[in-house]
Amino acid sequence: MEREEWKQAAESRRQEELDAKKQGKFFFGSSSAYVNIYEEGKPQTKKKVAMSDVVRANPAEQDGMGDMTGLTFLEEATMLHNMRFRFARDNIYSNISKVICATNPYQWLEIYSEETMGKYRGARVESMPPHIFGTAERAYRALMRGKNQSMICCGESGSGKTESTKLLMRYLATANKGVAQEDKSDHTVQAKVLKANPILESFGNASTLMNNNSSRFAKFTKLYFDENHCLVSADIVTYLLEKSRVVNAPKGTRCYHSFYLLFNIPDKYKQDIKTDLHLSDKKMSDFAYIKNNIQIGKIDDAQFCLEMLDGMSTLGFPNEDRDTILRAQSGILHLGNIAPFEKKGYEPTTDLKTACELLGVKPEGMIHALTTKEIVTKSDTILKPRDPADFVANRDTMSKALYHGLFDLIVVTSTGLSSKVKLNQANGLVCWTCSDLSILNTTPSSSFALTSAMRNCNNSSTIISLCPSKKSTKRKGFNGRP
Ligand SMILES: Nc1ncnc2c1ncn2[C@@H]1O[C@H](COP(=O)(O)OP(=O)(O)OP(=O)(O)O)[C@@H](O)[C@H]1O
Ligand SMILES: [Mg+2]
Repeated sequence: MEREEWKQAAESRRQEELDAKKQGKFFFGSSSAYVNIYEEGKPQTKKKVAMSDVVRANPAEQDGMGDMTGLTFLEEATMLHNMRFRFARDNIYSNISKVICATNPYQWLEIYSEETMGKYRGARVESMPPHIFGTAERAYRALMRGKNQSMICCGESGSGKTESTKLLMRYLATANKGVAQEDKSDHTVQAKVLKANPILESFGNASTLMNNNSSRFAKFTKLYFDENHCLVSADIVTYLLEKSRVVNAPKGTRCYHSFYLLFNIPDKYKQDIKTDLHLSDKKMSDFAYIKNNIQIGKIDDAQFCLEMLDGMSTLGFPNEDRDTILRAQSGILHLGNIAPFEKKGYEPTTDLKTACELLGVKPEGMIHALTTKEIVTKSDTILKPRDPADFVANRDTMSKALYHGLFDLIVVTSTGLSSKVKLNQANGLVCWTCSDLSILNTTPSSSFALTSAMRNCNNSSTIISLCPSKKSTKRKGFNGRP
């Protein structure tokens, strides 16, 4: 089912449930149900039964419980029932002790304001309604007690992992009340850490069938706090970038956002970008890598581009570096337009020359790389002409490698610029005590056991499991010695 259809179905179910509630009825959503037949305590088979033959597992009074560990029977079905009950009342979060389950509402509810954040700061989280800010507060408090923390966000594509991660980071970045009130400018570490998100998203996210803004990489963020519990630094490690998307976005999906943003540079930055991207007389449809599915996904490319460039300027990307990144992207687009050729007597086309100019390489070097294979043996390096049939694959491999390199460069630069201090592993320059809090935003394919339980939630839930990390409690220096 496509995302829009799913959203509509979810909305009509929600409405039906609310109507049923108004009439004092209980809504099951269906006239029949599947039940697990248990043998020796384990579910063996599933059987379809009429709803009238189904007996409630938990008493009605337990419906909508905030912490599901309070349910008499806690298993997948009762958990889903409880979450659905809460969801119909706009309670999208439910706890299972320290685990929080979030159901994606696909609409922004008024529950993320500064005021709501304020209610959770310093509060006894156990007595507050389940909320992502509550989970963040719990982690922050444990951190203040000297325990490093880890959080894992997992769920199906489109379930809300990235949004949840951003909300967690927003809360944690300003968790030290003093800092939050003191300085709200763009120059604080807190602002910089948050501003890295739109940059990473524009280079690592794409519109897919499941999610208009799907992260095509997993992200491990480590936030460092000093002895005053202020955020001082962040480390971002990314994994598993889906490189094939650069050259071949699957049907009905788009290439990475960053390529479309090149055609939507806001006026504010047009004057500022001093370099020629060779795109002024071009349209998106002129480029093989992005010409399909331009209309897919309701992403506001102009707004995204503005946020990305604003992010770069807040983080302090030097203008030359920013322009080099944009040039490299345009270079990759032009590279994708180079038609297959054999080396002999080849006259470089405009696309090849432009790609070379943008990427800063000589056309002869590019022709050589595209048409020659290097075989390295123990004693020698042998050059062999490439089969022209391999041309496209070779060219595309180059584009993928270039984009991967670009992505890594952006991650490293964003991380470096968003830190107040450089954590220097080589000579251990860090000389104060630091605690860290790690957030792992998994890819949908990650095989966490919890993810499989969430498959039945129609791709709409995120689980954030919060657990103290096993590592030592306080970081004393960074020179490899404890
Ligand atoms: N808490 C929320 N409130 C409102 N809308 C949300 C919330 N969480 C997610 N969404 C909506 O759902 C969309 C998908 O969420 P998100 O990008 O976080 O999914 P994801 O789990 O990271 O997916 P993927 O694995 O594909 O990256 C968002 O663009 C947003 O529109
Ligand atoms: Mg995501």
